[in-house]
Amino acid sequence: MIRLEKKWVLVTGASRGIGLRIAKALAPMGCRLILHARKLENTRQLVTELTTAGHEVYNVAAEFNSVSEVNALIETVREITSDHLDVLYNNAAIMTDYQPVFKPTVEEYKTSFMINTIVPAKLCDAFIPGMLARNWGRVINVSSGINNEPGLMAYSCSKAALDRYVRDMIPTLKGSNVLMNLLDPGWLRTDMGGANADNDPDSVVPGALVPVLIEKEAGSGELYHALQYVGENLADFL
Ligand SMILES: NC(=O)c1ccc[n+]([C@@H]2O[C@H](COP(=O)([O-])OP(=O)(O)OC[C@H]3O[C@@H](n4cnc5c(N)ncnc54)[C@H](OP(=O)(O)O)[C@@H]3O)[C@@H](O)[C@H]2O)c1
Repeated sequence: MIRLEKKWVLVTGASRGIGLRIAKALAPMGCRLILHARKLENTRQLVTELTTAGHEVYNVAAEFNSVSEVNALIETVREITSDHLDVLYNNAAIMTDYQPVFKPTVEEYKTSFMINTIVPAKLCDAFIPGMLARNWGRVINVSSGINNEPGLMAYSCSKAALDRYVRDMIPTLKGSNVLMNLLDPGWLRTDMGGANADNDPDSVVPGALVPVLIEKEAGSGELYHALQYVGENLADFL
């Protein structure tokens, strides 16, 4: 199992839901955490909680529907880490409201693709070259198991495009110790998943940590299902 002491980790969308669980699970592993949300105040309580517990934690803010805010975020992460990000957890996303079939608007497609596909891809583009130069990195893009939901077409298409980004980047990473994989968190009762979802958001851990802690031999391009690891000892898998 990979050790994370002092590694620099960025978790996007860390203020609530799945990202918050991932951040809380990573902090005790000794990494240096950078928590993202749209506003600094959205992660302030979590930063206080984790720093009080003795962890090294920073927060950054960016609205992902804004190119200038995303570019500023990339620069801020470079400054904080001295341009040495080790783990990129692309978790933040939006889901448009259910729409009648054939009715999603262009704006809904554009916003979904910007926040759920283009920004994760641009964060990969910004930080993977450095990982490759140092021959170490872990990138996890949070996908979705969404299937046969035409009322959520803008969301599901944006996630499918993210899956494709990962698949088509694999040759670039081949042979290196920079691994990029996908996580399907399962249907969880977060703000996005809603109150009727089958699973407690806490059940995303420990599975969400697997693609961070895997060794080089595990490779890239896999889809990890977080719920497969509920109640399991990670050491049995890593
Ligand atoms: N929950 C599920 O059942 C489920 C199922 C499959 C996949 N997923 C995926 O899991 C990931 C996390 O989902 P979740 O359920 O934890 O969602 P969530 O509870 O709605 O949290 C979303 C996170 O993303 C951030 N965010 C929202 N809009 C943003 C924007 N415009 N720009 C930048 N950041 C923004 C939020 O920050 P603020 O606090 O600043 O708003 C928040 O931290 C997503 O990629 C989602 O697609 C979830």
